[in-house]
Amino acid sequence: MTVARLTLDPAFVVGPVDRRLFGSFVEHMGRCVYTGVFEPGHPRADAGGLRTDVLDLVRELGVTTVRYPGGNFVSAYRWEDGVGPAGDRPRRLDLAWRTLESNAFGLNEFMRWAGLAGAEPMMAVNLGTRGPAEAAELVEYCNLDAGTAAADLRREHGVARPHDIRLWCLGNEMDGPWQIGSRTAEEYGRIAARAGHAMKRVDPGIELVACGSSDAGMPTFAAWEATVLEHAYDQVDYLSLHAYYDPEQYDEASFRASAVHLDASIDAVLATADHVRAKLRRTKRINLALDEWNVWYKSRHVEPENRGIEDNPALIEDDFTVTDAMVVGNLLISMLRHADRLTVGCQAQLVNIIAPIRTLPGGPAWRQTIFHPFARTARLARGTVLRPALTAPPMTTGRYGDVPAVDAVATLDGRDLTVFAVNRGTEPIPLRLDLRAFGVLRPGEHLVLANADPHLTNTADNPDRVTLAVRPGGTEVLMPPVSWHALSYVLMREA
Ligand code: AHR
Repeated sequence: MTVARLTLDPAFVVGPVDRRLFGSFVEHMGRCVYTGVFEPGHPRADAGGLRTDVLDLVRELGVTTVRYPGGNFVSAYRWEDGVGPAGDRPRRLDLAWRTLESNAFGLNEFMRWAGLAGAEPMMAVNLGTRGPAEAAELVEYCNLDAGTAAADLRREHGVARPHDIRLWCLGNEMDGPWQIGSRTAEEYGRIAARAGHAMKRVDPGIELVACGSSDAGMPTFAAWEATVLEHAYDQVDYLSLHAYYDPEQYDEASFRASAVHLDASIDAVLATADHVRAKLRRTKRINLALDEWNVWYKSRHVEPENRGIEDNPALIEDDFTVTDAMVVGNLLISMLRHADRLTVGCQAQLVNIIAPIRTLPGGPAWRQTIFHPFARTARLARGTVLRPALTAPPMTTGRYGDVPAVDAVATLDGRDLTVFAVNRGTEPIPLRLDLRAFGVLRPGEHLVLANADPHLTNTADNPDRVTLAVRPGGTEVLMPPVSWHALSYVLMREA
């Protein structure tokens, strides 16, 4: 059995952990909103129809930021439809997913939900069928106190204090031909700059995310980012990247090593942003918002044009396995490794749609396998990210050649050190940690997600089949095949 060796030093600093890395995403799609977060009449719904069983799980998951209301949905959405008296709201055909939208849940319901969830909102504006005027008016509705038409309208709607939303997305996946109102990079760069300019006139303190590529495999990847930033560099603060990994698209080893691809995609987007910075001779740096990421069995997805029009259909409710959970844990390791420039992350999505939390209408809510690495990373990854020096046995993949079978990162918060690691290979691997640079350490818990059957899932009837095991910690542990780990230590005396 070949050993993996990990050496850490408090001087190996990547950057601070931005809490916004542990964000999620609520889209008006399928059953994420309706019968997901919102289900009037459910036994656990509060007076406003919010499911409190789901809210409990969202808080346990530790989600810090939630993107809303889409996704593809936002590109044909009229935010005005979802505010004001519930009885006056129109029922519309949602063009993104070809479903019926009752508008019973809208902006103010979402903001009440986000407050109860303890999450910061990340609001997306429609730059598909609409433009700068509607985007600026939405900022006015949300962030101005009173004395303008939109701010006073919010007050009429029963919300006296401004929502004060800091983080805004300038549209969604505007490079994708599937997007309602998709644009060329030139067109999008220009409208993003104009919308951003108008929105910051309303509230100069907001932060703006421009759409990067909807996937690193898009034919326009990197060229899109460069053109968009050449137009909108001065108006925006972040560039987005979306990254979904399909367990059935390539060989299984390549799927298990998905973080190799995410690392390369993040590096490519940042290099492109820095190229434009140099070209325009700017000093400001554009950081990255990975505002949609996850495992998604995309090859099973039925496109909207091949379905009938339905009301809250069960769309992409993938059941996640032990392997999927390991991959999610590894993607979080990749994100932490880039914490100096990647400061916003949104797992897509939060409930039912490729989600850590599943529900049944009128029934229970439960944790999928991927819930566990996310919840523990969100809770334990604090302070400063440290990059380990790591040697590990190789594993062979069809897509990336030979890659290390073990991947890891660490965080240090005062006296609390946590190492996050995965074994993405199919053989057990002993992990030896050299932590001498920290002086005297007391090992804490060793959390492990693994199972003899890597295809095992959690279900409504068996919701805790895959969960975390707690083992005694130490500096030498055995990593079973396809496993995720969090190892905690307390610093007792400096070296
Ligand atoms: O998360 C599901 C969909 O994936 C989103 O609506 C879209 O932005 C992406 O293509």
